[in-house]
Amino acid sequence: MNFELKTLSLSAAAAHKCDLLVLLVPEGFKPQADDLSTLAAAAIKQGDLEPKPGKLLSIYTPAGIAARRLVLLGCGNGGAHAVRQAVLALATTLKTRSIKRAAVVFAMDCAAGAVGAAVCSMAEAGYVYTATKPKAEAPALSRATLGVTDDAAVQQEFATAAALAVGIEYARDWANRPANHATPTLIGDAAKALAKHAGIQCKLHGPAQVAKLGMGAFLAVAQGSDQALRFIELRYDGAARAQAPVVLVGKGITFDTGGISLKPAAEMDEMKFDMGGAASVLGVFRALAEIKPAINVIGLIPACENMPDGKAVKPGDVVTSMSGQTIEILNTDAEGRLVLCDALSYAARFKPAAMIDIATLTGACVVALGGLRSGLFASSDELAARLVAAGDAALDPCWRMPLDDEYAEGLKSNFADVANVAGRAGGAITAAKFLQRFVGDIPWAHLDIAGTAWKGGAAKGATGRPVGLLLHYLLGMAGAPTARRKTAAPRRARAA
Ligand code: BES
Ligand code: MN
Ligand code: ZN
Repeated sequence: MNFELKTLSLSAAAAHKCDLLVLLVPEGFKPQADDLSTLAAAAIKQGDLEPKPGKLLSIYTPAGIAARRLVLLGCGNGGAHAVRQAVLALATTLKTRSIKRAAVVFAMDCAAGAVGAAVCSMAEAGYVYTATKPKAEAPALSRATLGVTDDAAVQQEFATAAALAVGIEYARDWANRPANHATPTLIGDAAKALAKHAGIQCKLHGPAQVAKLGMGAFLAVAQGSDQALRFIELRYDGAARAQAPVVLVGKGITFDTGGISLKPAAEMDEMKFDMGGAASVLGVFRALAEIKPAINVIGLIPACENMPDGKAVKPGDVVTSMSGQTIEILNTDAEGRLVLCDALSYAARFKPAAMIDIATLTGACVVALGGLRSGLFASSDELAARLVAAGDAALDPCWRMPLDDEYAEGLKSNFADVANVAGRAGGAITAAKFLQRFVGDIPWAHLDIAGTAWKGGAAKGATGRPVGLLLHYLLGMAGAPTARRKTAAPRRARAA
């Protein structure tokens, strides 16, 4: 979907030719003298339109209005959250094949974040997955105009949101692809393709290089699969080399059967989404390519399948991670932390200002927070505060969870430095405590997106979360430059 921003008075909006005109009508709407205002005011007065978010009234070929269809759409207080709720109510309409051009017009001055919310929620509601379906099912809607009272005032918010929408769509497309269409090799190829954009480079490491790096935990997960693993290293250079990067680490399990600790059959198909963290890293880089902010970002993706096999790792096996710590793998289904711990060890070489891992890590996090908020764990209060604020601003919220050292008790092992699972209690937290052993003193955060990366049931599909949260955080960092640490090792030669 292509977006454009325009200053449109309500009388100009009435004359705007398109297949669908949506008028966002807030509570306390103050009508002017134009036809659209008159119509909306009459509908409210009659009780046919309630300006609550998502309540709507559809009108066909209304007199005096150039658009074929008009939707009067209540948007509550007109804030970002209410606008998103309102626009999502248009999901079916936006996917109608007869609608190619649409315009969404604000019948009031825009609240902060409302234009961005309108853009992202239109993209969200209009998204249709087609990678393994007939292309004819793709939405016909190709151009969406945002009509506001003053386009200059919201230009930057609009441009950021349009780029974010592209990144989110990219993340959704990759996460939605079934595991046989999104193998570690194919995810690697997608990352390589991103490096065609200016400012982005990509390096792919295969099994031999990963073995050479000593990533014994990652290798243990991958060894039960016929699909070759990939360790993907993306780099976005938007600022001076002296500026410390933020490292994003995305869990890239392209299918999680559980391994020898096999999962039950019901809903196992949803474990194709177990690379949602990886997809979010790809989505962030896709958006960075559009926005080109003045920051440095590294994206790391350990990608492999978790399969049961004669060669698969077994419960009780002890492996040596890149950090040198030995790990007793008591449950092969706790594989995410195993691929992530080696990627976090690798991340240290960039001397990052912060590192953030993103992972569909635990069913326990789904129990704790459901599908609304991602779980946030952070070793730094400042980093936590920035991520919480970014999530709120992006309408992609998270909730901070605890990291008391006592939670690590259950990870003790008689046969290795650490076990990969503790008991059932506090499972999202013990997983985070496991990861924390591998981050050293670098400010670190972990986002458990097991509940938020995809929806199950009839609406089954990837959400593209938390691309919005991450992008808002990164753009905030563009205004807060952090010098690379004095002790920084020399940067390695650029990827070829
Ligand atoms: N990918 C799963 C987590 C998951 C499960 C996400 C269900 C969304 C829905 C992860 O690899 C996993 O299997 N975790 C185990 C950990 C356990 C063995 C300690 C879990 O949550 O059951
Ligand atoms: Mn698992
Ligand atoms: Zn998993």
